[in-house]
Amino acid sequence: MTSKRAWSGVDSYFAKTLIGSDAALEAALSANAAAGLPAIDVSAPQGKLLHLLARMAGARKVLEIGALGGYSTIWLARALPDDGRLISLERNLRHAEVARLNVGRAGLERKVEIRTGAALDTLPKIQAEGLGPFDFVFIDADKANNAAYLEWALRLSRPGTAIVVDNVVPEGEVIDAASRDPDVVGVRRMFEMIAREPRLSATAIQTVGAKGWDGFVLAIVV
Ligand code: SAH
Ligand code: DHB
Ligand code: MG
Repeated sequence: MTSKRAWSGVDSYFAKTLIGSDAALEAALSANAAAGLPAIDVSAPQGKLLHLLARMAGARKVLEIGALGGYSTIWLARALPDDGRLISLERNLRHAEVARLNVGRAGLERKVEIRTGAALDTLPKIQAEGLGPFDFVFIDADKANNAAYLEWALRLSRPGTAIVVDNVVPEGEVIDAASRDPDVVGVRRMFEMIAREPRLSATAIQTVGAKGWDGFVLAIVV
């Protein structure tokens, strides 16, 4: 039973029993598929986990790096209070456009801003505008830059800020120290940074499900 099909079946069961049908999220996935976006959004149970973590953190300001079609964005923005705000950074203009439409259909346009550009170019502007500190940061863009994104997350944080980094395991590749894959090298550099960063207390959790074998880092700024 250790097959991706079995993992997907369990995810479907969890989604059906714990999440139920959700018109805005389902519309977002349909719009993504229609626009030819890759189906690399978080799964529904993972999206709900992000939502719950943001609520547990009492987040009012959320920063997301990597919006794709805004599926995780919607989950996170729904955790915000009325005056809450989420900024999501997306390099691909078409992804950003689809994300804005999906966020609008979910009735969240008042809380969400999708900023286009390479995140390493837009993050300094966010700092310059004094938009931090953020209460919750979700890092889910190009994995090669994960260490740099984590540095930025720290710069834009306060003690207590929660940070989640997606896709830190992909099929177990993270332990391949000889890998030349820039994504694997980037994820490993991020782990090494966490290891010597006294401002972070972190763990990593492996996951299986509809998105295969992967995992995420959960960290808090101390
Ligand atoms: N968080 C989304 C999935 C994001 S997929 C969800 O779960 O629904 C990764 C996204 O990061 C893609 O849309 C890709 O275009 C974007 N991306 C890749 N490199 C980037 C960069 N340098 N700056 C900003 N976004 C980037
Ligand atoms: C990829 C990116 C993601 O953010 C993800 O959750 C899964 C896969 C990718 O680039 O392949
Ligand atoms: Mg991801």
